[in-house]
Amino acid sequence: MTIIDGKQISSDIKKELQATVEACRENVNAVPGLTVIIIGEDHASQVYVRNKAKSCREIGMNSTVIELPEEISQAEVLARIEELNNNPEVHGILVQQPLPKHIDEYAVTMAISPFKDVDGFHPENVGQMVLGHLDRCFLSCTPYGILELLSRHAIETKGKHCVVVGRSNIVGKPMANLMLQKLKETNCTVTVCHSATRNMPELTRQADILIVAIGQANLITKDMVKPGAVVIDVGMNRVEDASRKSGYRLAGDVDYDNVSQTASAITPVPGGVGPMTIAMLLKNTLQSFMRAHNLQDTL
Ligand code: GUN
Repeated sequence: MTIIDGKQISSDIKKELQATVEACRENVNAVPGLTVIIIGEDHASQVYVRNKAKSCREIGMNSTVIELPEEISQAEVLARIEELNNNPEVHGILVQQPLPKHIDEYAVTMAISPFKDVDGFHPENVGQMVLGHLDRCFLSCTPYGILELLSRHAIETKGKHCVVVGRSNIVGKPMANLMLQKLKETNCTVTVCHSATRNMPELTRQADILIVAIGQANLITKDMVKPGAVVIDVGMNRVEDASRKSGYRLAGDVDYDNVSQTASAITPVPGGVGPMTIAMLLKNTLQSFMRAHNLQDTL
């Protein structure tokens, strides 16, 4: 059984990116820049944003965090985004979710230039991805990270049955679309399960590759997994744990202790998919910079 070590792979990717950022600095005397907007005081979001900024600096990219008050108007947020769209030193724009209730997520997504939308949330990027024009879009960071995990572990995917559990716009939908495409690390037959799926265990048991992103701790038990399957767990659930100082621990959507006895490869939580998301955000930002500078896309 192989434990897919996302922490190690993300660290390898960051080293590769750092070398390219360094080459950019030497060759064109500029480096990629990511600007993250955070609205309000959500604690988890603040931690995520801090980590994104820290990772940028670690690989030599510029990073700016714009902190806006909870009460800010939508018009003001859209105006700030427009300024960033027009700033040539900004290559990636990310507005951290969740947003305050009075701000429309769709309006914010639409306001970000598709050329700087390093989250890959804009319909133009989603559409190009679905069409298979992967050189003309940004891929949503979590599915992109999962493709990297599969490819760097040389996991054979062609013709395999991939079952995706979850249909969110950020993970499930783009993941299923990518697994369906004719790429080196995809080319699967794909089934998508969700909250209204009947007989989910019957479907998950057919999976050669099982990707779970439904946000329910330990939903996937051993009896739901075919022996030898590859299991990718996107879940990040807080479960109570009196033995921890914080009172909780992080659990995936997969019952790791038991499923790892039957899977051929599995991602742990934490340390599996999670660290890959930031690495791919950095990769998207570098890609945006390369496109803006007409540099050869060597990534
Ligand atoms: N909130 C949690 N994950 C994400 C993400 O990947 N992008 C954005 N913009 N907000 C998030």
